[in-house]
Amino acid sequence: MANRLLGKSAVVTGAASGMGKAIALAYLQEGANVAATDMNETRLKELEQEVAALGLSDHFCYCVGNITADEDCAAVVQMCAEKFGTCNVLSHNAGVVDDFTMVDSVENDKWDKVIAINLTGSMKITRAALQYFLPNEVKASIVMITSNAAFESVTGGPAYCASKAGANALMKSIAFEYGRKGIRCNSICPGPVGTNISESAPNRNPAGVEVHLKTGYNAHCREWTCMPLGKADDIAPLAVYLASDESRFMTASSVLIDAGVCLSR
Ligand SMILES: NC(=O)c1ccc[n+]([C@@H]2O[C@H](COP(=O)([O-])OP(=O)(O)OC[C@H]3O[C@@H](n4cnc5c(N)ncnc54)[C@H](O)[C@@H]3O)[C@@H](O)[C@H]2O)c1
Repeated sequence: MANRLLGKSAVVTGAASGMGKAIALAYLQEGANVAATDMNETRLKELEQEVAALGLSDHFCYCVGNITADEDCAAVVQMCAEKFGTCNVLSHNAGVVDDFTMVDSVENDKWDKVIAINLTGSMKITRAALQYFLPNEVKASIVMITSNAAFESVTGGPAYCASKAGANALMKSIAFEYGRKGIRCNSICPGPVGTNISESAPNRNPAGVEVHLKTGYNAHCREWTCMPLGKADDIAPLAVYLASDESRFMTASSVLIDAGVCLSR
């Protein structure tokens, strides 16, 4: 443990799985307190057991919550502040993929669901955090996971790409509006990483898959970059850096971390 996050108390969303889980564990191992939230209670309990095995339970708490619910967003921020005395980091990772349905046939309810979770959810959890940061004059770092799909139309369908591009724009607005208050905001834009994300859209649209995953550079990106699928632990160190004071000169940045996949067009 290098204690790079001593003095930090972080809300981590999407903490039950994938990158959110890797980030929660990395934050704890760097000396932070972590208030975890996710809608998957079973996996949150598994995380709780892993944290206990590391002897870090005193620095960890969790609550089940849906990122689309205002009251759940407020509750995890409040839990963090009450348990650890402050909240000064938000690591926002909760998200879903779409099923690759293309624009000509996308259904309103499916579109709305992805936007509600990935984009509006990003606003809701950040708004809840800001409503704690601002009156308490907390200097904070907000770290959002978005996606390289914000820049490239391949790794997700249109609803996913639009939600992630929107989240990157939201990140910049937050950095702009609250920079003078000592609140930084950056986004991490990963390429394909092996997680449980495909569970959020188990039935993929065949026509969309054909276009998005079986054609163009996306189908060949691993040949071109010579890199395997990323691991959640490949992303967590960047989330540690962005939460830490080492990144104090950094705000309003969308950081691509995708093994060069976006080079291979
Ligand atoms: N895996 C990839 O290839 C990849 C690439 C780029 C970006 N991302 C983004 O990274 C983030 C983390 O995804 P992951 O790949 O680790 O997936 P994951 O499915 O392993 O983890 C996502 C977590 O978010 C939770 N979640 C989903 N909807 C929620 C909601 N409404 N309220 C609360 N929790 C909710 C899930 O229960 C899950 O535990 C997502 O925002 C995803 O879009 C993933």
